Amino acid sequence: MLPKDTLKERVAIVTGGGTGLGKAMALEFARLGARVVVAGRKLESLQQTVSEIEKMGGKALAVPTDVREPAQVENLVAVTKQRFGKIDILVNNAAGNFICRAEDLSVNGWRAVVGIVLDGTFYCSRAVGREMIAQKTGGNILNILATYAWTGGPGTVHSACAKAGVLAMTKTLAVEWARYKIRVNAIAPGPVETEGAGKALWASPEAHRLVEEAVPLKRFGQSIEIARAASYLVSDYASFITGEALVIDGGQWLGHGHYLGALERLTETDRGL
Ligand code: HXC
Ligand code: NAP
Repeated sequence: MLPKDTLKERVAIVTGGGTGLGKAMALEFARLGARVVVAGRKLESLQQTVSEIEKMGGKALAVPTDVREPAQVENLVAVTKQRFGKIDILVNNAAGNFICRAEDLSVNGWRAVVGIVLDGTFYCSRAVGREMIAQKTGGNILNILATYAWTGGPGTVHSACAKAGVLAMTKTLAVEWARYKIRVNAIAPGPVETEGAGKALWASPEAHRLVEEAVPLKRFGQSIEIARAASYLVSDYASFITGEALVIDGGQWLGHGHYLGALERLTETDRGL
């Protein structure tokens, strides 16, 4: 467990901070001493996060923002500076997703997901990056991926392409902005039960079981497991890490090899013994 003052005096923006992984990261950052600004479209869930942070004795602010709208992103940065004076950390966590065959996906469906994930991550990174450059104090940007950024994601072509773009952005900005002492990293979570992911990706008990079965550790991840790793990556404990993407998925993306599952069924002759 990181010491309690790990993020003391830091100011963090977490997009999608009203639910799921974003909320878990916002709460954990606050527990470690950060002042946290949560941004998303629905004020009610953002305010819930803020009130939980305030109950812990922390400081937080809710700023309704659609990350697809550059003017709203500029407002998010301005309001954060006005309230807390600076920005040290940005987590690009906001996302949208649903399962749909590529041939059935409408133009609007494609644009909705790519707009939130890829455009939104760039708009927020650009706006916050400019502030960090002007502040001359360095900073941390953390992007939230999914492992299909590398493998492709049949059934979620919009999200897989957008996350692959965010992976490229992570590496690109890590190098471009290293001169400003801005570190840019990413986390690729495996399946974690959250408000959005559950509804969008494993709505039935059978789908839930199949997803769990595909994880070598045989369970879903927990939001706090992502939040702890996020806290580490945006803290000084990770001061020489940049351009990296950390997979936290119980081994899911490593797949099952050619023979796992068949191992019990194979005879000694099959195995050349
Ligand atoms: C097909 C769909 C669809 C579906 C929406 N659309 N849902 N098409 N199947 N299930 C289409 C709509 O018909 C519309 O196209 C277009 O997408 C835009 O829909 P809107 O509802 O108008 O968009 P918007 O209000 O902007 O909502 C965006 C959204 C929504 C992505 C569609 O689901 C959302 O806001 N989600 C946020 C929460 C979320 O999805 N969280 C999951 C994150 S989990 P037409 O052509 O009809 O106009 C995650 C996990 C990754 O990312 C990896 C896991 C292992
Ligand atoms: P979630 O609860 O649905 O979170 C998504 C968040 O994004 C919501 O708070 C939502 O808030 C916000 N959001 C959506 N569209 C937005 C927009 N246009 N502008 C601003 N905010 C917007 O899902 P989650 O599981 O916590 O996902 C968090 C991140 O983890 C995402 O990047 C997701 O791709 C990634 N991920 C999750 C899993 C998983 O299994 N849970 C696996 C791999 C990757 P509003 O609706 O209020 O805007």
